[in-house]
Amino acid sequence: MKKQPVGCFFIEYYRYSAIYRKAKYFLVTFAGQIFNLNMKILLLGSGGRESALSWKMKQSPLCEALYIAPGNAGTAQYGQNIAMGINDFEAIKAFCLEQEIDTLFPGSEDPLVNGVYDFFKNDEALKNITIVGPSKAGAELEGSKDFAKEFMQRHNIPTAAYATFDATNFEAGLAYLEQHSTPIVLKADGLAAGKGVVITSDKEEARKVFTDMIKGNQFGSAGARVVIEQFLTGIELSVFAFTDGKNFVILPEAKDYKRIGEGDTGLNTGGMGAISPVPFAAGTFMDKVMEQVVKPTVAGLAEEKITYQGFIFFGLIKVADEPYVIEYNCRMGDPETEVVMPRLQNDLLEMIQHLDDQSLDKVQVQHDPRAACTVMLVAGGYPEDYAKGDVISGIDQVTNSIVFHAGTKQEGAQVLTNGGRVLAVTSYGDNIQDALAQSYDSIQQISFSHQNYRKDIGYEFK
Ligand code: AMP
Ligand code: GLY
Repeated sequence: MKKQPVGCFFIEYYRYSAIYRKAKYFLVTFAGQIFNLNMKILLLGSGGRESALSWKMKQSPLCEALYIAPGNAGTAQYGQNIAMGINDFEAIKAFCLEQEIDTLFPGSEDPLVNGVYDFFKNDEALKNITIVGPSKAGAELEGSKDFAKEFMQRHNIPTAAYATFDATNFEAGLAYLEQHSTPIVLKADGLAAGKGVVITSDKEEARKVFTDMIKGNQFGSAGARVVIEQFLTGIELSVFAFTDGKNFVILPEAKDYKRIGEGDTGLNTGGMGAISPVPFAAGTFMDKVMEQVVKPTVAGLAEEKITYQGFIFFGLIKVADEPYVIEYNCRMGDPETEVVMPRLQNDLLEMIQHLDDQSLDKVQVQHDPRAACTVMLVAGGYPEDYAKGDVISGIDQVTNSIVFHAGTKQEGAQVLTNGGRVLAVTSYGDNIQDALAQSYDSIQQISFSHQNYRKDIGYEFK
């Protein structure tokens, strides 16, 4: 083993000290002005994820201007909200040109799957703008379950066995269902706002869902093709890579809690809370994730000449000690971002500056050794019908947690609920339990009518 001189320890200590960070902040700001490194960013989205991303970017000395379209009452604390649709590419173009935006950051999958990357790169006036996200072809990893499954097959990436059907082989699909073991997993091929997966042990129900999907009654065109998949039993986690198409870095991993009810029961939601780190994401299991999943995915994209720069979200399940890919997403997770960004010690904007020239190999990612957790406060009734427009009070009383806004809007001096998932209350702790205790404590300060939240986030690790 190479011997480290004693001086190295002092240098390491200095690197983490507040003095170092302050000195670096001023130096980078100064250098940024001289060398024109400062950035003007347009972030697309309005959820807790975008609040956490804008919170993170605002801390960077490289951040000259930050706009969020359309944003929410929370993002307005870190940048300027712009009333603009995330899929209105012409309006986005006009805004980018007018404000001399140099970085477009789509927070959610929709604009990416709709081809915002290609729209920019094919336009003379926009092509030099950095896009944090993949090309339309790359976004198919999330936009089409069938594409993702075929990609995994081509690159030997572990995933559940499957078959794909559409109107042309509908009868064969029914026959396939008949002989399939239960539970059966049915997935609408296209984007279905997180609702395109049905798991059932009832063959009659499986036939009905399958028929409804293919005949277009359910999920519209997203369901025109259906992936029928083997059911995997295990524990899930989310792993995130940030790639320039050649190199990648790994961000802190997270586990989210998708069901509305305690003990993972009831309907699926966008996510009711998240923790990071994930205790079992260590050792040989993570080595397998790296070797069998992350590296072949990044290499496979490059090999197939699919332009991909941005986040790859690996939705994984650990079966015995083996990782399997349940899904890919072409953007960060929500609410995972609300714990991943607080644990990422690097300057996110500096990392983004390594995308276009594919120099991410120069970046060493530092994870905060503390745990972070987030608990989602949701509107009563969510994920089914719920009220909007309720007054939220007490956010400013919270001092020991970060309150990321999700479905909120500002009206005069008041903050009102404006969505199913309303606020994400994130805390640090020496361990997951401490972080959770802090979030649950902070939640007591906040109130709005019919507020609901899961009381058991992180329950497996208590
Ligand atoms: P997806 O939209 O593909 O992430 O699926 C939504 C959820 O369905 C996942 O988070 C899993 O909990 C569950 N799921 C999807 N595919 C499978 C599978 N093959 N086996 C077991 N559970 C699955
Ligand atoms: N939390 C899951 C997702 O963002 O898709």
